[in-house]
Amino acid sequence: MRTLAVFSDKVALARGATDYVLNLARAAIEQRGEFSIALAGGSTPKDVYALLAAESANAEFARWKVFFGDERCVPPDHPDSNFKMASEAWLSRVNVPSANVFRMAGEKNDLAAVAAEYEAMIRSSVASEKSGTPRFDLVLLGIGDDGHTASIFPDVVERCRGPELVVAVAPEGKPQKRLTLTYAALNAARAIAFLVSGAAKRPVLSRILKEGPASGFPSAQVNPRDGGVTFLVDTASL
Ligand code: 6PG
Repeated sequence: MRTLAVFSDKVALARGATDYVLNLARAAIEQRGEFSIALAGGSTPKDVYALLAAESANAEFARWKVFFGDERCVPPDHPDSNFKMASEAWLSRVNVPSANVFRMAGEKNDLAAVAAEYEAMIRSSVASEKSGTPRFDLVLLGIGDDGHTASIFPDVVERCRGPELVVAVAPEGKPQKRLTLTYAALNAARAIAFLVSGAAKRPVLSRILKEGPASGFPSAQVNPRDGGVTFLVDTASL
């Protein structure tokens, strides 16, 4: 099922997305005792993470398990690090147990080993149920101007269609290699939420909403088997 929620501007989008995450977390904790979330990188989610940092009274962060949808292969203190962005804006300010924050070690040399280790962490920390594939309660994703999501760029889509849950990729024109969740991991999720803001996203978002997977964009190929996809967008991006 696909849902579209439209917000008047970036500020309203951040508030709406934060409330959406908090509601899903409460339901997951009520039903299964914990909440597993994979974070988006880039700039749009930063305002959501900053709002989450002020929600300790409304969220049982001690029961949250925080993963990353993708990471740039840089040290965790590098300005491009998604981990650094999420930690500074949110994770360092709330009581998510450090053992429950699962960082992709992009700074290491053997990226195939890092991807395999991260997959093993997911498999040991996120419930699989009958499908055998771990099911994140929520995966937050962005959409790039070229229609990529996580680090599934157009030139590495095929590499992300395999059985692995995590792969290392070298997208063309990017300054760093990347680690990314694959479609196998994304399409097992209970809920996917795309956070989209700004006029630059309008051409891609309109085609994704109109054509779906037929648009051919990497982000349009995210279709959880028995999960929902929600587009949380501002009016500028529509
Ligand atoms: C990353 C992200 C990437 C991002 C999109 C949108 O590591 O850069 O995971 O997929 O979500 O590029 O980025 P903005 O939110 O900055 O537009």
